[in-house]
Amino acid sequence: MNARAVLATAPEIRANPLREESVTLKAADPCTFVVFGASGDLTHRKLIPALFRLSKQKLLHPQTAIVGFARREWTNEQFREEMKHAVESAGASPSEWERFAGALFYQSGVFEDHAAFRALGQLLSKVEEERGVPGNRIFHFATPPSEYATLVRNIGAAGLARRALRDDHAVPWSRVIIEKPFGRDLQSARELNALVHTVFAERQVYRIDHYLGKETVQNILVMRFSNGIFEPIWNRQYVDHVQITVAETIGVEERAGYYEQAGAMRDIVQNHLLQLLALVSMEPPAAFDDKAVRDEKVKVMRALRRIAGEDLSMNAVRGQYTRGFIEGTPVPGYREEPGVAADSRTDTYVALKLWVDNWRWEGIPFYVRTGKRLPKQSTEIAIQFRAAPHQLFSRDALAGLEPNALVLRIQPDEGISLRFGAKVPVQGIRIRAVNMDFDYGASFMVDAPDAYETLILDALRGDATLFTRHDEVDQQWAFVDPIIKGWASSDSAEGPALYEAGTWGPTEADALIERDGRKWRKA
Ligand SMILES: NC(=O)c1ccc[n+]([C@@H]2O[C@H](COP(=O)([O-])OP(=O)(O)OC[C@H]3O[C@@H](n4cnc5c(N)ncnc54)[C@H](OP(=O)(O)O)[C@@H]3O)[C@@H](O)[C@H]2O)c1
Repeated sequence: MNARAVLATAPEIRANPLREESVTLKAADPCTFVVFGASGDLTHRKLIPALFRLSKQKLLHPQTAIVGFARREWTNEQFREEMKHAVESAGASPSEWERFAGALFYQSGVFEDHAAFRALGQLLSKVEEERGVPGNRIFHFATPPSEYATLVRNIGAAGLARRALRDDHAVPWSRVIIEKPFGRDLQSARELNALVHTVFAERQVYRIDHYLGKETVQNILVMRFSNGIFEPIWNRQYVDHVQITVAETIGVEERAGYYEQAGAMRDIVQNHLLQLLALVSMEPPAAFDDKAVRDEKVKVMRALRRIAGEDLSMNAVRGQYTRGFIEGTPVPGYREEPGVAADSRTDTYVALKLWVDNWRWEGIPFYVRTGKRLPKQSTEIAIQFRAAPHQLFSRDALAGLEPNALVLRIQPDEGISLRFGAKVPVQGIRIRAVNMDFDYGASFMVDAPDAYETLILDALRGDATLFTRHDEVDQQWAFVDPIIKGWASSDSAEGPALYEAGTWGPTEADALIERDGRKWRKA
C-alpha cells in the first residue's frame, strides 16, 4: 500500500506536507467551493480533476459542494456532463463519479450582472442548507485577470463573503483563491490588493503560484532545512554563483492574446522564477508556518538589487524566437504565430544577472533565464560551488573536472544531482566530472500529487504557507517593473534580441554570463 493510499483511508486529512504535524490534523470543515470561470480551460484541466482526486481520496469533506459560475448557459446536468470529461483522466469509477457529481451545481451569468450574483447567493444558500454546509465558502477566480476586480466588487455587493475580523478559521469562514497574474505592474497589483482588502482580510486571500504546489519546489525547503550538511555551505564563502533555468520547448500556442500583453517577464519571471530564487536564497524561517516562511521570502525580495537605467543593458537580456526546429520539427517564429503582431516586441526569453544584497549572498551573482522554444523542457536550480583552494593535480589531470554543482531538478526528471570530480580508473591521475543522483520517482515509487491538489487542500484547511502574500507580490512587481519600463523606453528602441527556435536563446544572453568568466549550464 503506498503512502497516499494509507492517508486516504485515515480519518484525518493530509495537508501541507512541509508541516510535520499536518499529516495528523483532523479533516477540513465542509464548505462550498465556488469556481468563477467554471467553463474555462483551467477549471477543466486542473481544478475539477484536483477536486475529484481529493474527493476520491476522501480528503474533501463529504458535505462539500462545488458551485460553478460562468457565462455559458448550462444547467446543473450539463455542467456535470462537461465535468465528467474533465475527470476521465483521473480514473473515475461509476460510484466515485456519482458521489462527486452529486456535489456539483452551476449558475450561469455574466460577472458584471448584479442579478446573477443575487441568483448565485440564493443557489449557495439552498445548496448549503441541503448539504448541511455551515456557510464556509471559497471563491476561486479561474477567469481572465481583467475580471478579478469585478468579481471582488460583486461578491462584496451581494454579501456573499464574510470578512474575517481576527481568525480565518472561525466558522463560517470565507476565502478567495486568485490565479496569477496578480496585476500587470506594481501600480495595478497595489490597486487590486487594495480592492481585494475591501472585501477580504489578507488572511482570507490565497494568491496561487502553482509552482509552489509542486513537490520538488517544496523539497527545496525540505532539503535545505531538514538536513545538516547543506546550510553550512549555502553562502558566499562556498558558493560561486547560482543558475536558475525555466526552459520550455513550447511556443505561444493558443495564448497569443494573453502572451502579447505579458511576455516572459510577466508570465514567468515575476512569479515562478522569483519564487524559486526566494526559496533557494531565503534565511531559515523560525517555523514552518505561513507567517514565518513568507516573512523570509519577502526579505529576499526586498534585498534583490533593482536593475534600472545604465545597469539594464549589462544585467538583463530579452529575446524573441524566430522560426527554427524543435526536435527536428519545423516551428514558426513568434511573429508568425496566430494572434501575434508582425512587429511584436514581446519578450519570449529573458536572462538576468541578479544580486541578493544581504549578509549571506553579498557578491554572489544569481543568473536566471527563461524562454520559449528552447531545445529542452527543463526547470532547474544549480548551485555552483567555488573551486578547491589549492590544486594538487596537474593541469592535464584536471582537464575533465567541472565546477562542483548541486542541481535541483524541478521538472522533468525530478531529483537532485551532485556533480564532483572522480578519478578515471586508468593508470595515473585523470579526473572527470561525475554525478551522484537522487531520483524522485525511483526513490518514492508514488505519484506526486498535482500542484493544484496540494494547494486547494491547503486553502480548504486555511494554510496559506504556499500562497503569495500581498507584500511579496508587491516586491516582485517592484523588482520587474523598472526592467519592463526600461525596455519599453525609447532608449532601447532596438527591441528583443532574436534567437532561433531550438537554440538556447540569443547570443547576448551568453555574453551576459561569459563576461564574468562563467557559462550557462547545459540544462
Ligand atoms: N489554463 C491554464 O492552464 C492556467 C494555468 C495557470 C493560471 N491560469 C489562469 O487562470 C485563469 C483562467 O484561465 P483559463 O485558461 O481557464 O481561461 P479561459 O479558458 O478563457 O476561461 C475563462 C472563464 O471565464 C468565464 N468568463 C470570462 N469572462 C466572463 C464574464 N464576463 N462573465 C462570465 N463568465 C466569464 C468564461 O466563461 P464562458 O466560457 O462561459 O464565456 C470561462 O469560464 C487566468 O487568470 C489564467 O491566467 C490558467
